[in-house]
Formats: sequence, structure tokens, C-alpha cells
Amino acid sequence: MPKTEQALSLTLSARQTADFELLANGGFAPLSGFMGADDWRSVVESMRTAGGEIWSIPIVLATALDAAPGDVVELSAADGKALGRLTIEETFERDVEREAELVYRTTDDDHPGVAAIYSEGNRCLAGPIEADALPDHDDAFQRRLLSPAESKAAFADRGWKRVVAFQTRNPIHRAHEYLTKAALEVSDGLFLHPIIGETKKGDIPAEVRMRCYEILLERYYPQGRTVLGVNPAAMRYAGPREAIFHSIVRRNYGATHFIVGRDHAGVGDYYGTYDAQQIFDEVNIGELGIEPLFFEHTFWCKACEAMASNKTCPHDDDSHLFLSGTKVREMLAEGETPPHEFTREEVAEILMEAYRKEGD
Ligand code: ADX
Repeated sequence: MPKTEQALSLTLSARQTADFELLANGGFAPLSGFMGADDWRSVVESMRTAGGEIWSIPIVLATALDAAPGDVVELSAADGKALGRLTIEETFERDVEREAELVYRTTDDDHPGVAAIYSEGNRCLAGPIEADALPDHDDAFQRRLLSPAESKAAFADRGWKRVVAFQTRNPIHRAHEYLTKAALEVSDGLFLHPIIGETKKGDIPAEVRMRCYEILLERYYPQGRTVLGVNPAAMRYAGPREAIFHSIVRRNYGATHFIVGRDHAGVGDYYGTYDAQQIFDEVNIGELGIEPLFFEHTFWCKACEAMASNKTCPHDDDSHLFLSGTKVREMLAEGETPPHEFTREEVAEILMEAYRKEGD
């Protein structure tokens, strides 16, 4: 009996479901399926696919499913929706520790991205996918979901040539607003493209963040110059490697420029403040196809009475308001409103309400 007649099926994890969506909608172009051993090794070791394209984080389908080359696996989303299929060209064992070391720059399983690949395991199924459907999202996300073709059309409709994309996994605080608006000053349009896939414990949930984005967009961003889309991807917290990855995905969505601030996609103390900017020295920007816009660490300066950075502010640290994510979470948990200089009242209210509900 030919192998293809076997009814193999696999329910993807939430992360794999998100990867499937980006493979299917062109967000991960030029990839068209889950990577095999050559691509995996080449991406891990030299930040390029085996075919020579710049690519910084392996997109693999790690699973214990018993399947072999030639098999066709029916894939369904984490919620059970049938999505399409994978035609297996190859099965292989990846070395997750090596992936952790070279991609995440640490083998420490306290790192949430490293923990995620460790828990997925070594065995991978590789091959092209065929999509019949895309994963469903809750209404708040679905109405903001744009495929790369749709975001490109939205930019073209508006006549934008220079489009700056902004990645975030946080509510938009003052620093984010400052970066995005400064970038918009020198661009035609802004593409707010928050991640709505899996994030680590302790990060503000995407549905709460979505309410923050919507209200800020309505009240503080120019409607004619801003497009809000959602990125289904999971966060990897891979810092520098993820900055490259994030920029490639935004290039695929039609952006020409990409904001990279302090400790982009970082977590804990695993990366230096500007590592995610320095890694762009290793790639040819023309070849990458999107230009990074680097920003210094920004803060509110009481003496300037404005957002600033060490590039623009002459005052010393005493004048600067620094609040870590942990500190903000502590304030929210204690029912204390984060200061106006850190985040707008509308955002603070949504976050406080979300924390109150969590405590109920
Ligand atoms: S990230 O994991 O998506 O990078 P976050 O949502 O906090 O986290 O950051 C989104 C973008 O804003 C990243 O490019 C990050 O470097 C930048 N950023 C966040 N806060 C600041 C800040 N205070 N100063 C400069 N850049 C910042």
C-alpha cells in the first residue's frame, strides 16, 4: 500500500499553528514549509537557509508523530480546525542545545524561548505545506488580521512608499509611542504590528493589549497614517536573532523600515541593550530588503518634560523615569496607577482593570 494512503494526522501546538499561518499567508516567505536538516543547520550556524536566503530562527515541526518521508500528514489547529497538510520529505533529529546556544545565545532553560524548544524536542518532520484554511482568531484579533497581501494593498491604497513597522509584545507605553511617532515623522505611514501569538508568563495578554492599541490608535495616532495589523507569531525572546527574524516578516508584510530599540525581543539579562541592533552589521541591508531604524533607550526626563534618550537629553539619571516591566506589574498588582509619564491614562486604566479581574 502506498504510504500516502495512511491517514496520518497531527494537531499542532499553538506555536506550530502560528507558524503554519505565516508559512501559508506568505509572512515567512521565502519559506513554503517546515525546514529540513540542511536548512536547520545552515540557519542555526550561519543565519541563512541552505539556499542562501537570510533567515535567523529555524521554523521546524518538532513532533513525536511516527511518520516517514512520502507520508502526508493532515494538520489541524490547536483548537481542532482542519488547516491542510504536510507532505513529508524528510525526518531528522535536531540538536536543540546547539540551536539554543547559537540562536538564543544560551542553553539555560530559564530562558522562555529555550524552554519552548527544549519541550518541543529533537525530532522534526520537514516538507512543504498545503493550506486549505487559516487558523481562527478571536474577534478582537480577527478584525485586525491582515495577510501580507492585504497590508501591502493597504499601504499602496494610501500611497505610502516609506512604511515603518513596529513590533511589540507590550501595551504601547510612552517610550513605544515616542519611537513610533519619531519614525513616522520621517516616513509616510506607520504599521503597528503587535505579536498576538504565545508570549511568556508575566507578559500582558494579547487581548488586554489589543484594547490598549485600539484606544491609543483612536485617540492619539493619525488615522490616515497608521495601520494596525496583528502578527499571529509566537514570541521567541531570541533578542538579536529575533530582531532579524522580525524584520524579515515585516518586509514580507510590505514595510520598508523596521524599528529596533533597546533590548529588542530580549528577556531578563540574556542580551546586551544594543545586541539586537549590532547584529544588523552582520547582514547586507539591501539583501535583507528592509532597513532597521535604531533607537536609543528612551525615558521620560523630568527636566526636559519630554521623552528623551541619552542622545537628546543633557540631564543626569536623577531626572529620568525608569520603570521596569516587573516594577509596572508590581504596581498594577497592588492597584497603583503607573505614572502618566510612563503610560497614558487610558492604557493604565485598561491594565489596572485587567489586573483587578485577574485578582478576583
Ligand atoms: S519586544 O520584545 O517586542 O521587543 P517591546 O514590546 O517592549 O518588546 O518593544 C517593542 C520595540 O520597542 C522594540 O524594538 C524595543 O527595542 C523598543 N523599546 C521598548 N521600550 C523601549 C525604550 N524604553 N527605549 C527604546 N526602545 C524601546
